[in-house]
Amino acid sequence: MYSVFITRSLPDPIVEKIEQVAKVSMWEEEEVPVPQERLEKELEQADGILCLLTETIEEKLLLGADRLKIISNMAVGYNNIDVAAASKKGIMVTNTPGVLTETTADLTFALLMATARRIVESSTYLKNGKWQTWSPFQLTGQDVYGTTLGIIGMGRIGEAVARRAVGFGMNILYNNRSRNMEAEKQLGVIYTDFETLLRQSDFVCVLTPYTPETRNLIDREQLSWMKKTATLINTSRGGVVNEDALYEALVGHKIWAAGLDVFEEEPVPLNHPLLSLPQVVALPHIGSASIQTRMRMAELAAANLIDGLQGKKPKHLVNPAPSNIE
Ligand code: GLV
Ligand code: GLV
Repeated sequence: MYSVFITRSLPDPIVEKIEQVAKVSMWEEEEVPVPQERLEKELEQADGILCLLTETIEEKLLLGADRLKIISNMAVGYNNIDVAAASKKGIMVTNTPGVLTETTADLTFALLMATARRIVESSTYLKNGKWQTWSPFQLTGQDVYGTTLGIIGMGRIGEAVARRAVGFGMNILYNNRSRNMEAEKQLGVIYTDFETLLRQSDFVCVLTPYTPETRNLIDREQLSWMKKTATLINTSRGGVVNEDALYEALVGHKIWAAGLDVFEEEPVPLNHPLLSLPQVVALPHIGSASIQTRMRMAELAAANLIDGLQGKKPKHLVNPAPSNIE
C-alpha cells in the first residue's frame, strides 16, 4: 500500500477516495500550516503528497524524499514548488487548472468593480456613521462600462475575464508571451506590447503565472506608464508586482487604486504600508474560494495524486513524466 501525506485538513469524501489506494496521514489543522519539520519527516516516508500553495517545497526538503513519486498541488499556480529539483529526482508535480477559471475570473472582476466604485470604502463610511447627506461628488469613483481593460497573461483566466469585460462594453487589450488568436477572434481582444497596454488601459489585470521572468514585472517604470486614473488588479501572485513601487505610485496619486488578492508575503503583515491606503482593496487570496470550486480543486488534486501513485500519467502534469511512466 502506498503512503500519502495531505498537508491540510480536507473533506472526508476526498480523503476516503485516497484511502482506497493509500495509507493516509493528514495535518488536521485548518487555519495553521504544517510546520516545515513535520513536512520534512512525512516526505521521507511518503509515496505521494497532496499540498497547498502555503507549502514551500524546496530542493533541500526533497533530499530525503526517496520514495516520493508525486507532489499534487491543490492550486493552478505551482511557484511554491521547486519543479526542477523534483524533476531531477523523478518526482511528478501536478496542479489543478481549468476547474477554478470562472471562479477566479469572477473574483478578479469583483475586485475591479470594488476598486473602481470604492465599494469597500463606501460601506465602511456608512457603517462608521459618516453618511450625513447625499452629495454630488461624495465617494465618486471611476466608470467601468466602456473603458479600456488591459489583461496581462491571456491564459484560461485571462480569457474568462475578457468574456466578462465584453458585457461591460470594454475595449480589451492584452499582452502575453504568445498571441492568442482564438481569443482575438472570439472576443475581439487586441494584442499590444506591454508598454502600450499599460499606457492605454484604465484597468490593468495581472493574470500571469509567477516565474523568475515575471518577478517584479510591474515595477516603478511600468507603474509610471499607467494613467493617473488607472487601477491595477492582481489576482495572480504577489511577486509579479513590486509592492514598494506600487505603494509609492498610490501615495503619490500616480495611479488611482489597486485591488490585490495576493501579496509577496502571505498572510500579508498587518502593518504593511499598502493596507493603510483607502484606495487599496485587499483580500486574503480568495480568488478560487467558492465552495464548489474548492471541492473540484480537491477532487482534481486527489485524482492527479492517485494516478501518479499508480504509475499512470496524471492529467495535469507540469514537469516531464519520469521514464517509467508513459
Ligand atoms: C491559487 O492562487 C491557485 O494558484 O490556484
Ligand atoms: C490558468 O488556469 C490560466 O491558464 O490562466
